[in-house]
Amino acid sequence: MNTATIDAVQTRKLYIESYGCAMNFSDSEIIASIMGEHGFIQATDEYDADVIFLNTCAIRDNAEQRIRERLKHLRATKSKNSDLIIGVLGCMAERLKDKLLEEEKLVDVVAGPDSYRELPKLVAEVDDGARAINVLLSREETYGDLNPVRLNSNGITAFISIMRGCDNMCSFCVVPFTRGRERSRDPESIVKEAIDLRDQGYKEITLLGQNVDSYLWFGGGPKKEFKKLTPEEQESSVDFAGLLEKVALATPQMRIRYSTSHPRDITEKVVYTMAKYPNICNYIHLPAQSGNSRVLEVMSRNYTREWYMGKIEMIRNILPDCGISCDIISGFCTETEEEHADTLSLMEWAQFDFSYMYMYSERPGTPAAKKFSDDIPEEVKKRRLQEIIALQKQISKQKNEARVGKVCTVLIEGNSKKSADDWAGRNDENMVVVFPKETYQKGDFVNVLIERATTTTLIGKAIGKNAPF
Ligand code: SAH
Ligand code: SF4
Ligand code: F3S
Repeated sequence: MNTATIDAVQTRKLYIESYGCAMNFSDSEIIASIMGEHGFIQATDEYDADVIFLNTCAIRDNAEQRIRERLKHLRATKSKNSDLIIGVLGCMAERLKDKLLEEEKLVDVVAGPDSYRELPKLVAEVDDGARAINVLLSREETYGDLNPVRLNSNGITAFISIMRGCDNMCSFCVVPFTRGRERSRDPESIVKEAIDLRDQGYKEITLLGQNVDSYLWFGGGPKKEFKKLTPEEQESSVDFAGLLEKVALATPQMRIRYSTSHPRDITEKVVYTMAKYPNICNYIHLPAQSGNSRVLEVMSRNYTREWYMGKIEMIRNILPDCGISCDIISGFCTETEEEHADTLSLMEWAQFDFSYMYMYSERPGTPAAKKFSDDIPEEVKKRRLQEIIALQKQISKQKNEARVGKVCTVLIEGNSKKSADDWAGRNDENMVVVFPKETYQKGDFVNVLIERATTTTLIGKAIGKNAPF
């Protein structure tokens, strides 16, 4: 067999579709890297693919329903190409395990978030006529040594995963079950990835973890509390503030963002580090989930309304202009009208720039599903959610209108959704800003005078380039 024939046999096309949070999108880049080392190149679409992977989310029931619908649609694609291999990866795969193979007959591969190194082997098993599954969770896997292949990238902004899993056990949440125990990634590999991205021309990175404030590196392995480390481990350990500083110093030309902070764990040290380095963006995503202390307790969030407010005050004292966003759940088990009103009053008080808002969706196997009944009727959850959304819209509009007449620095990410004549990017505080292109280029930092505002967007005019750091 000559080389050309070998290539023809070995090169196969992979199409990855990602659902859910940024961590899943980041994982798909790891998957592309692993598969790439085994001869798989990216397909342009599902019809061009030999293998289709759906990297799935299980956070709410509707996230899983969406995948079920997608699989129905893929039946038609598979009926035209019987060799097509279909894999379900990620959180829904981990949650349902072999049940997914029983329920969805067209699925050939099921793989959980810690088994991606096994994917080439699982595909080979399917080539041999089997259906293949690996949903083992790990206490150590961070994929820290891999070079992610950037997918659907704008070439300007990129994610870097700094930790995996979550040890928090918020009672409503499926993530600890789908992503396993928390573990932190080696800071040197994180810094190296940031430098590689800079060298490829990227201008902004977002460090990702479910609870970045509990990042702690002391030589690897499962999470340990700082006070349980040996004196030598403590000495050489790196916490989240330390990691932020390392990345900020290693890539001073790049903007640095991160997500998600936990109100229980966010420290002054992190916020002072943000204040110290101009390239760390003034933006914090700090999910409250509820504004009522009793509801927070049944959610096992481990903080009260007052504690949360104290954290917002701490942030605003150190970084007065910091953008702050929130996640809120309406109609959690046992929530009364008064308790829902507390969520609205917390929103009024905190003046979030924007929020992600959801109706509670019971997830089988979670502490809430075991302990409480999902007792708030659907229409009540919906009405409360609408009240929450209406209030957030009003706050976002007011806050955005207050920015009219001001100048902010925007990193251009690409075309505006509405017009190819306009650029879109974000300012330091993570607000979307749109303005006419003129002679500016993607990847430029530009000063923009804000002239108009909607609930979600600032609209303005460029007044010159800016090298902010
Ligand atoms: N680690 C992050 C959030 C991860 S999940 C944190 O602790 O904040 C993203 C958001 O989905 C959560 O903040 C929560 O608002 C929402 N969410 C999680 N489980 C949910 C459920 N069962 N029903 C509705 N929303 C949920
Ligand atoms: Fe879920 Fe809570 Fe962990 Fe966030 S911190 S991923 S909400 S368990
Ligand atoms: Fe969904 Fe898993 Fe992220 S459940 S929100 S994809 S961690």
